[in-house]
Amino acid sequence: MFPVINGVTAPAQKTTELNAPEHTSLFDLGAWSAVQLAVIERALSRWVASPSDAPAPAGLGDAMRYAVLDGGKRLRPLLVMAACDAVNGDASVALRPSCAVELIHAYSLVHDDMPCMDNDVLRRGKPTVHVQFGEARALLAGDALQALAFELLTPDDASVDARAQARLCRLLAQAAGYQGMAGGQAIDLASVGLPLTSAQLHEMHRLKTGALLQASVMMGAACGSASPAALDALRDYGAAIGLAFQVVDDILDVTADVATLGKTAGKDAAQDKPTFVSLMGLEASRCYAQELLAKALDSLQSSQLENTHALRALADMLVNRQH
Ligand code: IPE
Ligand code: IPE
Ligand code: MG
Ligand code: MG
Ligand code: MG
Repeated sequence: MFPVINGVTAPAQKTTELNAPEHTSLFDLGAWSAVQLAVIERALSRWVASPSDAPAPAGLGDAMRYAVLDGGKRLRPLLVMAACDAVNGDASVALRPSCAVELIHAYSLVHDDMPCMDNDVLRRGKPTVHVQFGEARALLAGDALQALAFELLTPDDASVDARAQARLCRLLAQAAGYQGMAGGQAIDLASVGLPLTSAQLHEMHRLKTGALLQASVMMGAACGSASPAALDALRDYGAAIGLAFQVVDDILDVTADVATLGKTAGKDAAQDKPTFVSLMGLEASRCYAQELLAKALDSLQSSQLENTHALRALADMLVNRQH
């Protein structure tokens, strides 16, 4: 049986399969993800303005749940759980950071789609939050999701020790704020129509997208113990997949269709955004994403951690994804 935390059942620390020796080819990402996702979805539904708790006022809860539930690949929560596996961590502790990082991500998407930013009408196959609920409520739903992420990281019981809570809050705050996602989004908006240099584009992507993905890995790692060298290697892995993720997002914006993406396609060029595709072209961008994947896998290898099957498979999946 899985342990129950605050009414949410956490996954067992590891399955027999995940204890198997390091053979990525034997690792079934689909099966592993299905187990994790069932728990993550249930936790999100329970923790995000659940109608059975004190209802959020004036329809705010509806907008928050709309933004978070029923959609999304949940890559960041899966990275948290996978990194927790890699350091033989406690999955019941990792569930909170796993959901918290998804709340920050969901809030970033709500704001990213607003007319003052990318002005998008479709997200996760549904009308964007401001289209569905109006701009003011979308803004507030984003604000409330951000606050809720930190509430999740600070349970008022003995389930997570105070130092671990502080470390998790710090990792997430740095990745979400001016040194991370918000800073990267500011560069993104200030760069419309500008031909960024490669170094500037790397910096923008590292901040706006990479920081939160890297933080997902480091939060998972904070749920167990690892040597400083292993943590450095995980940080390098996180940096490589974080950048690769946004390179692939740039590629898919050009190559995939709306139905596959569940969001508007072709909008980077339409809005004159600098991207890896506009900087180096499609083929070179694809090669670069594969290079970053190889770098990420090398970092895992050098970590000398044994249970990195899920991290390996997720890196491969996020670089070779179709949506
Ligand atoms: C899209 O992220 C926004 C970026 C950071 C590029 P995802 O592709 O992870 O979006 P969801 O969560 O699956 O909808
Ligand atoms: C958004 O990047 C990154 C965020 C911090 C939300 P994009 O603007 O490229 O994301 P999409 O393509 O709209 O999902
Ligand atoms: Mg954007
Ligand atoms: Mg956008
Ligand atoms: Mg994009």
